[in-house]
Amino acid sequence: MISLLSHLSYVAVTCPDVEASVRFYEEHVGLEVVDRIGDDVYLRCWGDYYRYSVVLRPGPEPSLSTMAWRTTSPEALEEAARRIQEAGIEGTWIEGNRIGKAFEFVGPWGHSMTLHWDVEHYKATGDKASAYPDRPQRRSRHLGAPRQLDHITIATSDVDAFAQWYRDVLGFRIMARTVLDEAPISVFSVITTNEKSHDLGVVLDGSTRAGRMNHYAFWVDTREDLLQAADSLLENGVPIEYGPSIHGIGEQNFLYYREPSSLRIELNTGGYRNYVPDWEPQTWTPSLGSNNFYKNSQMPMSMTESFPAADGPSATEEGVPDEIKDALFNPYAKQGNG
Ligand SMILES: [Fe+2]
Repeated sequence: MISLLSHLSYVAVTCPDVEASVRFYEEHVGLEVVDRIGDDVYLRCWGDYYRYSVVLRPGPEPSLSTMAWRTTSPEALEEAARRIQEAGIEGTWIEGNRIGKAFEFVGPWGHSMTLHWDVEHYKATGDKASAYPDRPQRRSRHLGAPRQLDHITIATSDVDAFAQWYRDVLGFRIMARTVLDEAPISVFSVITTNEKSHDLGVVLDGSTRAGRMNHYAFWVDTREDLLQAADSLLENGVPIEYGPSIHGIGEQNFLYYREPSSLRIELNTGGYRNYVPDWEPQTWTPSLGSNNFYKNSQMPMSMTESFPAADGPSATEEGVPDEIKDALFNPYAKQGNG
């Protein structure tokens, strides 16, 4: 297949109190507002090459509104739309904010995706201009401010089928997956349109609610930036949900926290670059350290919450059968570390 998609370009989410979220992104994450159109607020990281990478829009609950990928060419956009329709999904052509004509569709597991070619290449002027000609804007003075958007991780009822559909229809490479030690159940996979381990993560969702997301992530340049961000968050009263630590899959350093709507934000750095076009995905298990390679701490149960909240009585243990709960969340207990 010809290469259709280049990279994740922006994530649009809904939040019940947009202004509270905007203040949080400005004060604690280090993003800045570039546009307000209707009720939508557009934000950027200092190193984003295009005008914006995050859209906040009002909604009754925190959720994914759409995740957007830039195609490799105008022709690739047409071809991607054709392939999606050939796969039995009707999308619509829309006009987006400074992205021209875009193709929006809802995938088989309920996730909205927007594909576009046109962009506005951002170039700051005046005191925001960078001394580096290649940078769109000078580095932020905000401690730990991310350079750019990195990836999104969605939740789905069938991890492997999701990865295979996006591979077959849109050309994502499947880079790795996690299968439980105790049962042949796929709980996680990473797929990518470029050299990173993933710009789209896929986590198991046993709830009956389609189209949910687990988190989205920004990139910082170094592990020191990540640790300084952790320090700054804690000093300013923002709890860290999980990390800093390192994922086995992708080899990225990570840190998770929440914004006011309860949506989960990740900071990421490090990780491998992989250019192999016919890469065969590795199968990991939790006991190998797929999630936490140091294997010296448990992932908190809160990390299983996806957005919007699942139907059903438990929001923290949603969709996880009792018999695999221990294996999933406490994979090191049997090693005596749990
Ligand atoms: Fe992630």
